[in-house]
Amino acid sequence: MTNISYDIENIRKQFPVLHQQVNNRQLVYLDNAATTQKPLSVIEALDIFYKTTNANIHRGAHYLANKATVQFEGTREKIRSFINAKETAEIIFTSGTTDSINLVAQTWGRKNITTGDEILLSMMEHHSNIVPWQMLAEEKGAVIKVIPVTESGEWQIDAIDSLLNERTKLVAVNHVSNSLGTINPIKMLIDKAHSYGAKVLIDAAQSVSHFATDVQELDCDFMCFSGHKIYGPTGTGVLYGKYDLLEAMPPWRGGGEMISSVSFEKTTYNSLPHKFEAGTPHIAGVIALSSAIDFMNEFQWDDLIDHEKNILAYATSKISHIEGLRIFGTSTEKTGVISFDVEGIHPYDIGTLLDKQGIAVRTGHHCTEPLWSYYGVTGSVRASFAIYTTTEEIDLFVDALHKSISMLR
Ligand code: ALA
Repeated sequence: MTNISYDIENIRKQFPVLHQQVNNRQLVYLDNAATTQKPLSVIEALDIFYKTTNANIHRGAHYLANKATVQFEGTREKIRSFINAKETAEIIFTSGTTDSINLVAQTWGRKNITTGDEILLSMMEHHSNIVPWQMLAEEKGAVIKVIPVTESGEWQIDAIDSLLNERTKLVAVNHVSNSLGTINPIKMLIDKAHSYGAKVLIDAAQSVSHFATDVQELDCDFMCFSGHKIYGPTGTGVLYGKYDLLEAMPPWRGGGEMISSVSFEKTTYNSLPHKFEAGTPHIAGVIALSSAIDFMNEFQWDDLIDHEKNILAYATSKISHIEGLRIFGTSTEKTGVISFDVEGIHPYDIGTLLDKQGIAVRTGHHCTEPLWSYYGVTGSVRASFAIYTTTEEIDLFVDALHKSISMLR
């Protein structure tokens, strides 16, 4: 990464959506864990693709088809480098994290999980890292085990040793919790899981835009993330898998591009990564994802991490003294997420009044219902920050929060 100074005004200029009024107030977008906004370079990459290049990939013999294929495959190499995978063949394009997890469950899972096997998840998983495994477990007679969390929203580390054993075939956990922001100690868990011969899938949807990811250093077996949470287009996602594992997995969706040859007697399948990429993918989206990675690569990770830590500390200090306000997720290792509720007030009511004042947050269970059951609530208000969040925006958020609470009390 080249070093540029952290010029927040210049960064914000690159995000046109931020510069508008909603409900007659300046928009303050604090729903970045749901999706990040897109810089001009990403928006323009989509536009340029459709204006100058639009063609299907890997199939045509013509100029535009070759150009689109080169750009599409160029993104694969860029992603490989971004997460430090060994080979481009280990990078599979999907429609998002959910699609990536389902791919692993339906291919590796159906081939390798059998009756009595155990799949270890954590209490703070997103539904997309619970339900695909439940469906598989139901089909195969496997057992789901769950790492409990502490009051501060961290894994109960002491419980992990008793949850892993030789029947554990897969551990599937997030690197960062979407609801709490907790950064989980996944390297420790990966090493422990491997000592029992289990494979490990990391849901990196909430981590890849916040700090560097090195799949070789982590030694995870699978890793997934979504393009739209890293300043790229919706409908794009990545599954990383170790080559030998992907190679041994049966294909999932059948169709064009994933085959080597087809006859009514026998079909043979394409090599990696195409074996898992049936049909026409989101070509424009994947090519624009390349621009999102370029955008990220302009920064030093340390600058991004410092900025996010400062915003998180500032926002936490400004709201934590509010009477009746409880923050869920108080780990010292967390990304820019503040999930909270206020005694006697429904999160939805706070979210609605914040919206009226131009502040965009998410309210509800954030697709982590088991976590909220543990806390004994139905959900929270969640403010989540990004590369372009300013302290002035936090001030507007906190003022609006005070007003909302006083109206609802
Ligand atoms: N998983 C996304 C969120 O946490 C949608 O909001």
